Amino acid sequence: MKKTLTVGSLKQSSSNNVRSKEVSVPPIKSNPRVNKTTSTARIYFTQNRRSFSVPFKKGQTVLDTALTQGHQLDFKCKKGTCGKCQIQVLKDEVGLTPANEAEQKRLSSKVHSGYRLSCQARMV
Ligand code: FES
Repeated sequence: MKKTLTVGSLKQSSSNNVRSKEVSVPPIKSNPRVNKTTSTARIYFTQNRRSFSVPFKKGQTVLDTALTQGHQLDFKCKKGTCGKCQIQVLKDEVGLTPANEAEQKRLSSKVHSGYRLSCQARMV
């Protein structure tokens, strides 16, 4: 005689001695395209031998973003004239505006080594 198994027939009961079987289920892999909270672009730089990183804030200067984040960056004029806010960019994941005339004048050839005025460098 052919016996038909149903969900109810697999449950453990005192009457038929059938044990339920545990099935291992593989963990669910997260989709990297959905999880955007961990993929924030940042800019990494140093100022006076101190290292910093700030997240991408479109249109904002590196200095303003750093200050908003609570970093203690040196600065004075915020106009590109004093040079006090000078930083050296180590890694740029966000994209910055090209060095403007004030930066070219203040930093001259150092611009080619990644130096910027953080009050003038904007994220694009
Ligand atoms: S704060 Fe003076 S040049 Fe940036």
